[in-house]
Amino acid sequence: MIDDTIFLTRHYVMPTYGRFPIRLARGAGCRVWDEDGREYLDFGAGIAVCSVGHSHPRVTAALAQQAGILVHTSNLYYTHGQATLARRLVDAVGIPGRIFFCNSGAEANEGLFKLARRFGHARADGRHEVLTFEGSFHGRTLAGISATGQEKVKTGFAPLVPGFRHVPFRDLDAVRAAISPATAAILVEPVQGEGGIHAAGAEFLRGLRVLCDEHQLLLLFDEVQCGLGRTGDWCGWKSLGCPEVEPDGISWAKGIAGGFPLGAFFVRETPVPLPDGGGTPLPELLGPGSHGTTYGGNPLACAAAHAVLDIIEEEHLLENARRIGEETLAILRALDSPWITGVRGVGLMLGIELNPDIQNALPSEERRTTASLAMVERLNGLGLLSIPAGANVIRWLPPLNVTREDVRLAVSLLETALQV
Ligand SMILES: Cc1ncc(COP(=O)(O)O)c(C=O)c1O
Repeated sequence: MIDDTIFLTRHYVMPTYGRFPIRLARGAGCRVWDEDGREYLDFGAGIAVCSVGHSHPRVTAALAQQAGILVHTSNLYYTHGQATLARRLVDAVGIPGRIFFCNSGAEANEGLFKLARRFGHARADGRHEVLTFEGSFHGRTLAGISATGQEKVKTGFAPLVPGFRHVPFRDLDAVRAAISPATAAILVEPVQGEGGIHAAGAEFLRGLRVLCDEHQLLLLFDEVQCGLGRTGDWCGWKSLGCPEVEPDGISWAKGIAGGFPLGAFFVRETPVPLPDGGGTPLPELLGPGSHGTTYGGNPLACAAAHAVLDIIEEEHLLENARRIGEETLAILRALDSPWITGVRGVGLMLGIELNPDIQNALPSEERRTTASLAMVERLNGLGLLSIPAGANVIRWLPPLNVTREDVRLAVSLLETALQV
């Protein structure tokens, strides 16, 4: 009987993913190994998920211990780990609010969309629309692709969920012009990840807050990729130099539990003032029976998240993400390669932009649909895992405990890959 991983996957798993021909079997820290024992430096970290590296002994111990006590209950009952995790997340945001736990980034955003709809209904003025941005990514559910500002995710899925419009990113005048009597909320990634590592910038986020206040709209941050440490701060937007900007809602997933599936969203306690001077506290818009999910915030997921947050705090990983991120940017900027047209990033969310002509310089068998894909494959072959973003950007999203030595190795592998 054929037992090969790739053979079985190709025959029995839905073909939704374009996969690299690597069979991963094991991980430790910033490294993973394939089934043949070949080692890779992992600068993708499961797409910004494994924030404390692979198989961190404290996460492993927390999961094993909790698995022996209570794996799952349901949200019909109270569990201490969920309650204390919610308090920790609210404290990390620094604004009074409440948390809803779910299982993924798309599901966290769905919760924010439902909040926006309820907000519109509470105003009774027909507001329901959410403005999002060109180049954004908000998940693969039907509402997620409707919210996403990239055509490629929508192809073939019409009719989409109504009530989303995309506006040019970082263009405040365009946002001002786009706000209509139907607009209820603005959803923005403080740092666009899938779109190619583009920071919104402090002025833009401040301007969005002012517009939302003027028009009594909700300001929602999608921090699924940039949140909870990735940029060197618990809050991605605070790394951009505007800690005073207060969102009304935030979505998270990815790094929150280091690889155990968990998502969450934050809702600010304070009511958004309404034209008549009143206003319902936002969390009450999603009262009992309005929203739910079976697994959300179960004891096992919350134990993993507590362990991850403990490690980030006790091993000073926010500082490490900031320091190593800045050093890596400086090293990358100093590289003398005609094929690099730009380097950008915040903390350990880094983007290396390639000259698309590099494809023409590659041997024909190495050419792919995009330059980023071709170069990521080249790097895979050299033992460095990274993630393509858009046609020309390579993303580096290493674990937050990555070392200077790991970065030096990654950069030297990149230099080798660029020699075409
Ligand atoms: C900013 C952002 N939002 C939402 C999502 C969707 O998250 P998930 O894949 O966990 O549903 C992603 C995933 O890449 C993301 O980067």
